[in-house]
Amino acid sequence: MTVKLVIGTQWGDEGKGKIVDYLSKNVEYVIRFQGGNNAGHTIIVNKEEYKLHIIPSGVISGKIGIIGNGCVIDPEILSNEIKSLEKRDIDVKLLISNRAHIIMPYHKLLDGAEERYLADQKIGTTKRGIGPCYSDKISRNGIRAGDILNTSRLQKKLERVIPIKQKMFEVYKIDEKLDQKEILNLYVNFGKQLKKYISDTHIIIQNAVNQEKNLLFEGAQGTMLDVDYGTYPYATSSHVIAGGASIGVGIPPKNFTEIIGIVKAYTTRVGEGPMTTELTDNVGQHLQRVGHEFGTTTSRPRRCGWLDLVVVKHSCDLSGITKIALTKLDVLNGLKKIKICMGYEFKGEMTDIYPYDVDDVADCKPIYKEFKGWDKIENIDSFSDLPKSAQDYILFIQEYLKTPISIVSVGPERNETMII
Ligand code: GDP
Ligand code: IMO
Ligand code: MG
Repeated sequence: MTVKLVIGTQWGDEGKGKIVDYLSKNVEYVIRFQGGNNAGHTIIVNKEEYKLHIIPSGVISGKIGIIGNGCVIDPEILSNEIKSLEKRDIDVKLLISNRAHIIMPYHKLLDGAEERYLADQKIGTTKRGIGPCYSDKISRNGIRAGDILNTSRLQKKLERVIPIKQKMFEVYKIDEKLDQKEILNLYVNFGKQLKKYISDTHIIIQNAVNQEKNLLFEGAQGTMLDVDYGTYPYATSSHVIAGGASIGVGIPPKNFTEIIGIVKAYTTRVGEGPMTTELTDNVGQHLQRVGHEFGTTTSRPRRCGWLDLVVVKHSCDLSGITKIALTKLDVLNGLKKIKICMGYEFKGEMTDIYPYDVDDVADCKPIYKEFKGWDKIENIDSFSDLPKSAQDYILFIQEYLKTPISIVSVGPERNETMII
């Protein structure tokens, strides 16, 4: 039995979707445990491209996807995603936890309004209602997936929560009247569409573990967006690190057998907040152009920079990463020199501890180690086929992190992947 967990170690978009698809082969379930449709995971198989926001990437290879209780779900987006996959002849096998929280129309409006009010201090959210939905979960005003299956229960909950939201609209000067009846009908209708998927998924997953089946957990976002250990407040609203997986599906931490950290060979970030190794020069442009670094969810250009191992080490330590998948190594092709950040200069001293406050992070200067570049990586299936300078790059990362790199990805296609 293997229970593998895939975690993004940077600011998201590390290539989790591609690696989850690659690792899906012999598993029974592929499971999301946090986040919502703020995620955008791209999978390319035989030149066919799939962009998934809430459905686990394993459904592309015919596996059963589970959306766990730690996730937030926009039922309209989910229904559309199911339909668009079915149109492409993908048989969507899906299960949804009755405890997952539902993104409501007022969450999306409040997400936009908060960002407007924050003005130049905005977070740069995806405006999908993620933060307000998780806020309602914690303040116990949320609507859960099970609720949209029961009209009278949903009505009772809406009666309780809608007056509070209407009051908030006044404060935020959102000129909208929330029509309780209309929202009830809309969500009861979503409930009818999603009924067949919604259940006590934690029992199904616990049983699968007891029957020694292989499971794969797909993280969304990345450690630096974790609500506790990321660059708060420039973060998302869920627990992205490995600890979040146990809570987010309802199985004990002892069940996980492998924790795979996805590390992009350089760094990207979408939205606001500090990024110590950001490059605004022509190298940054090279990474953005060659790596097609534009957001899958919002199409915003991703900020690009050198690999920051202070960040990745922070991630490895928080999640107990046992193996690394290094992605997008090919994007570095053609660069004469490549740099890796191995520490920060902060207040005149060197540190490799990620500061807790974003103002302190902004004061950190990267300390780099320089590597020779390589021309290209082509038709490679083993480590020894890689150019010597690419081998040096990989070995340095592995040694710094004291964690084996077992997968190297050199292109977006499923088969452009090497086990080392
Ligand atoms: P995720 O959010 O972590 O799943 O990552 P995204 O899918 O948002 O972004 C990663 C992008 O890089 C996608 O467009 C992938 O198709 C692409 N990609 C993944 N691995 C590689 C790789 O090794 N090389 C190249 N060139 N592209 C890759
Ligand atoms: P995947 O799973 C990259 C970022 C947003 C913003 C911050 C908060 O594709 O790696 P939110 O809408 O979550 O409240 O926005 O988090 N963000 C992501 N950045 N990849 C993602 O997901 C992201 N999901 C959220 O840009 O800075
Ligand atoms: Mg993404």
